[in-house]
Parts: sequence; structure tokens; C-alpha cells
Amino acid sequence: MNLELNALINGELINNGDWLEIISPINNKPYGRVPALKEKEINEAFKWARQSQKEWSNLTLFERISYLQKWAKLLESHKTELAKIMAHEIGKSLKDGQVEVERSIEYIDYTIEEAKRVFPETLTGDGWNIKNKLGIFSRVPKGVILAISPFNYPVNLSIAKIVPSLVVGNTVVFKPATNGSLTGLYMAKLAFEVGFPKGVFNVVTGRGRDIGDLLVLNPEIDVISFTGSVAVGNHIRKLGHGKYLVLELGGKDPALVLKDADLTKAVKEIVAGAYAYSGQRCTAVKRVLVDETIADELVKLLKIEVSKLEAGSPLDNKAIIPVIDLKAADFVQGLIDDALVKKATLILGNQRKDNLISATLIDHVTSEMRLAWEEPFGPVLPIIRCKNVEEMITLANKSNFKLQACIFTKDINAALNIANELETGTVNINGRTQRGPDSFPFFGINDSGQGVQGIRETINSVTRFKGLVINY
Ligand code: NAP
Ligand code: G3H
Repeated sequence: MNLELNALINGELINNGDWLEIISPINNKPYGRVPALKEKEINEAFKWARQSQKEWSNLTLFERISYLQKWAKLLESHKTELAKIMAHEIGKSLKDGQVEVERSIEYIDYTIEEAKRVFPETLTGDGWNIKNKLGIFSRVPKGVILAISPFNYPVNLSIAKIVPSLVVGNTVVFKPATNGSLTGLYMAKLAFEVGFPKGVFNVVTGRGRDIGDLLVLNPEIDVISFTGSVAVGNHIRKLGHGKYLVLELGGKDPALVLKDADLTKAVKEIVAGAYAYSGQRCTAVKRVLVDETIADELVKLLKIEVSKLEAGSPLDNKAIIPVIDLKAADFVQGLIDDALVKKATLILGNQRKDNLISATLIDHVTSEMRLAWEEPFGPVLPIIRCKNVEEMITLANKSNFKLQACIFTKDINAALNIANELETGTVNINGRTQRGPDSFPFFGINDSGQGVQGIRETINSVTRFKGLVINY
């Protein structure tokens, strides 16, 4: 056992004597442990978050910013440790882990700048013959924010919820994914060193299936910001908590490759988009819809590039790393096996040792195969050959996941027309699907989520208008 970290409740680093082992995807052995909190501690976290909120929001913006800047400095000076923990508990390469911390620090800077520009709207009465009214509409914090994050970006997707909430005067209860909890609690330890006022920032750990409903149904919550799977997201939607809800869920992002595409560019973007972090990204390219007249050439070029992706340990910065656990690997394997049994063509990969699956490329995938529709969250890319652009659009729109899509073509008019037809959150032209830069609004619809994240958008979701009308 390497690492044991405490939860953060009301400014104290605590545990309750019950522990949850964190199993490393590198060797499927325990890497550390975090508190398995129960109802008592969870209710305490919300109680203190509520009690401290008014005082926190009464600080000046610049006072709140100074705490966040100190935290950002500590995250920066501990990025090597954070990357090491991420490598062990979620299998992210050391290099990518450091990038994730750097990206998140940039996010904090950006959020701080944006928070300085949250100005009230001032309106004069100008209807019903009313002229003698001056309305000032300010944004005020909603109160207590519950942030629940997934395993795959334990720093970035947490910071993206916590910092916009805190900067405008909310308090936060943050629950990281179990694999991701050590990273979350390490960030909490750094926040403890900053010395945020008691109760303002709380981090609770425990298995989602054990404490999820307790968290979501706590009456102190004003906003729930959740990122994770569609199954858990839909469960939260249905719980009837009546809270404002922002959901970032799964994806099945298609890459549409048209006849006239620059194939060298398309291949480079698709490979990076599909296989980075072994495909464990909501925005990964998860299916290729290609014009059948260029499919052979595209597959040939993809094979060359995918064969360069070495599988191994995140500690050696390998491109393909073990997926999060054996269950996830079995799921990916199930999708591959189903496609191959139904006569898809294996171009490359399908080598497996425990939860390390080599980069897998499968051609001639059809609508009858699960791989055409389900999100693998693993290093496997299906190629679906299409007769024409209309078929590509139909298949792209048929998925219930609607996060992003990308189109590769030299014909910008065609790209714009297709983008118009695609029912999805965001369309990328001649570039892979991607959340970043984090300053862009980020959103999915249907099974991919509800609400919008970003910088200004997240600030808007954790604040509400408060009006003041001066009659003169
Ligand atoms: P997950 O299994 O849904 O878990 C997400 C979070 O929810 C974890 O903190 C988990 O805790 C918690 N949780 C589990 N059951 C819960 C319950 N009943 N109530 C409340 N919370 C509960 O997802 P994941 O495997 O970590 O992440 C992968 C999924 O997230 C993929 O589908 C991916 O596409 C999606 N994702 C989406 C975005 C986006 O921005 N759209 C970004 C990243 C990931 P435990 O870990 O303790 O179970
Ligand atoms: O997994 C979801 C992340 O938000 C993806 O972010 O597209 O920048 O890798 P990314």
C-alpha cells in the first residue's frame, strides 16, 4: 500500500476508519486507500458547506481569487506528484498527467479573469409608459454545489466544476470517482495547505453506488454538476431531487471522411482522436464513417499509423495503456468479439493481456454490430463504409449520443452544409473531436448530457440573477 489520504470536511483532513482500496490499472493491485465515508460524514460536509456559504460570498472577489491563486500555485509546484498518482490510479501516462495539470492551471487563470467581468446588467424601464425605473440585475451565487467527476480527467474535470463555483461565492462538496480519489484527495491536501475558510471546499470519497443517492438527495444542494456515464447520469436525472442539473455524459463521436478529404491530415487527426489515453475520453473519435470509394486507401493509411502505437505502462509514457479495470477491458473485448463474429474485418490489434488491449482497428463494421453504436471507452476504432454523404449523416444522427462530430473534406461549403444536418453538440471541420481549449463552451444533447460547461457558461450555471429596481 503506497498512499493513504484523508477526506476534507469543514477544513479538517479526516477519515472514519473505513477504507476503500484503490486498485491500479497497471497491475490490478492496491495502490492506495481513501476513506469510505458514510451518511454521517456526508451530511456533515453539506451542513458545513451551507453554513460557510454566506460568509464566503461576503468576501470580496479579490479575496476569493487570492485563495484560488494560492491553490493553483501549489498544483503547479506539485504537478509531478499529481501526474505520478494519476499514472498509478487511472493509468494516464506521466506526460499526459502533467499536461492535464498545466491545462487545469490555465483554466483557473481563465476563470479568475472571467469572474472579474461578471458585471450586472443595467436596464431602464421602457414599456407600459414606464420610464422612471432603473433595474440592476446582478449575478449572485446559487449556494451549495455538488460536483461529481469521472475517472478519466481527475484534475481537469474537477477543477472545471470547483473553481467557477468557488470564485463567484458558492461552496462546494466534491466527490471524485473512486479511481481518481487519490488525485482528488491530493488536491484537497493542497487546498488544506492554502487554508480556505472552513467548510468552503469539502471533498468526500466512497463508492458511487453506496453513497451516490445520499449525495444527490441531500437537501442542502442547489446545483448538481455531474460528469460520467449515461447510466449514472440518467439515474440522477430520474431521482426527483428537483435541483438544477448539469450533465456531461458519454459520446459516440463520428468522423465523416468525404471523397475529397486530405487523407494524411484525416488519418493523423483520427488516430490521435481515437486512441489517446486508450480511447477513454468522452470526445474520442469512436466511429469512422467513410465514403466507400476511398475506404481502402483510408484503412491502409490508418493501419500504418495505428501500428506505431505501442502498448505498455503509463510510467513509460506508452501510447496505449491498460484501460481502467478488468471489467472495462471485458466490455471492450465483448464489442470486438461481437463485431468479429458478425464478420467485420480485423485490420490490427485485438491482442490482450489482462486490461491492456492493443490498439485495435476494425473494418466493415455494420449497423447490426454493437460496435457501431456503443461507447467502448477503450482503444478500438470501427470503420463503417458508406455509399454517400446522406448515409453518413443518417448513421451519424441515428446514435442517441450527441456530443461532437468531425468532418474531413476540402470543400468548405459541403462541410458547412453537412454540419448543418448533424444533430450534435459541436461539429469540428478538418480537426478531431475535442473538448479543449477549455475556454470553449462544451455540451452534449440527448444521451450526451444537458446544460453547458465552459468558463462563462459554468459561471452562469452556478449563479442566478438578483434584481434591484430603483424607482425615481
Ligand atoms: P461513471 O461510472 O458514471 O462515474 C462517474 C462518477 O459518478 C464517479 O464519481 C462515480 O463514483 C459516480 N457515481 C457512480 N454511481 C453513482 C450514483 N448512483 N450516484 C451518483 N454518483 C455516482 O463514469 P466513469 O466510468 O467514471 O467515466 C466514464 C464515462 O464518463 C464515459 O461514459 C464518458 O464518456 C463519460 N465522460 C463524459 C464527459 C463529458 O464531458 N461529456 C467527460 C468525461 C467522461 P465511483 O467511481 O465511486 O463509482
Ligand atoms: O473525457 C472528456 C474530456 O472532457 C475530454 O477532453 O477532448 O480535451 O480530451 P478532451
